Amino acid sequence: MLGQDLVEQLLARGDEVTITDRDEIDITDADAVDAAVAGHDVVVNCAAWTAVDDAETHEAAAFAVNAVGPQLLARAAHTHHARLVQVSTDYIFGGAATAPYPEDAPAAPRSAYGRTKVAGEWAVRAEAPDHLIVRTAWLYGAHGASFPKTIARLVAERGGLDVVDDQVGQPTWTWDLADLIIRLVVAHAPSGTYHGTSSGLASWHTFAQAVVAAAGMDPQVVKPTTSAAFVRPAPRPSYSVLGHDALSAIGVAPIDDWAQRWAAASSSVLG
Ligand SMILES: NC(=O)c1ccc[n+]([C@@H]2O[C@H](COP(=O)([O-])OP(=O)(O)OC[C@H]3O[C@@H](n4cnc5c(N)ncnc54)[C@H](OP(=O)(O)O)[C@@H]3O)[C@@H](O)[C@H]2O)c1
Repeated sequence: MLGQDLVEQLLARGDEVTITDRDEIDITDADAVDAAVAGHDVVVNCAAWTAVDDAETHEAAAFAVNAVGPQLLARAAHTHHARLVQVSTDYIFGGAATAPYPEDAPAAPRSAYGRTKVAGEWAVRAEAPDHLIVRTAWLYGAHGASFPKTIARLVAERGGLDVVDDQVGQPTWTWDLADLIIRLVVAHAPSGTYHGTSSGLASWHTFAQAVVAAAGMDPQVVKPTTSAAFVRPAPRPSYSVLGHDALSAIGVAPIDDWAQRWAAASSSVLG
């Protein structure tokens, strides 16, 4: 989802880009990673094990992709003098905060996915001094499955839906995250950790209502429910709001408010 938007923007800029996917390079294969990284100035790792619930029962496999893969990429990037951009997640935090998480808040993952992603962050910090770790959350985009497409389809099929309103976060368009990654690289941002999420906050219920409205249906058919009524294998953070002070400190504008960005994104995402 992120990778395709990033590639589209890089090609439109006229940058010289090498695009790979899992068929070409498995990021857990050290030799393949080293050969692929050689000769590049910047490497952006968009690959990950993103099946959050499956990670609960396949943590070793998720760890290989989310921690060992970034470690190998970081080692190769350091060897070949490339900058590594690693994409991480709000799930590295515990989700019990009441104010936006600063970039240096302690990690306290509550899920297997979160544990593997925080291990990936530390591996990158340890192996590649020249890195950007960009944490994102609640991604949606034109490519692949995502929350807005699922909500619009289910409401069209069923005429209504219950969606949790006790988890809040920052719905973030992959197009905006790709643009932010490019802006950070172009700005030669200092190595470190940044938060690549939309500004503002919403519950899943509020976001679902905005999706349904954009799809031309009545948002009132989306009713609020609680996480307790919608139990999933991996615990979800109840408060997943990330602060953007590190971006502001280096003069890179954070992504705008989620509702404004959803208004810009909805037609391309929902098709
Ligand atoms: N989606 C979200 O809401 C969200 C939220 C927070 C953070 N993030 C992070 O944002 C980044 C981008 O997420 P996304 O939603 O764009 O991911 P995505 O659509 O699930 O894409 C991940 C890609 O990684 C590939 N991949 C998996 N294992 C691989 C391996 N061993 N070697 C090479 N490629 C491999 C997958 O290939 P296959 O399709 O063949 O499996 C897939 O193309 C990830 O780091 C993710 O953790 C996502």
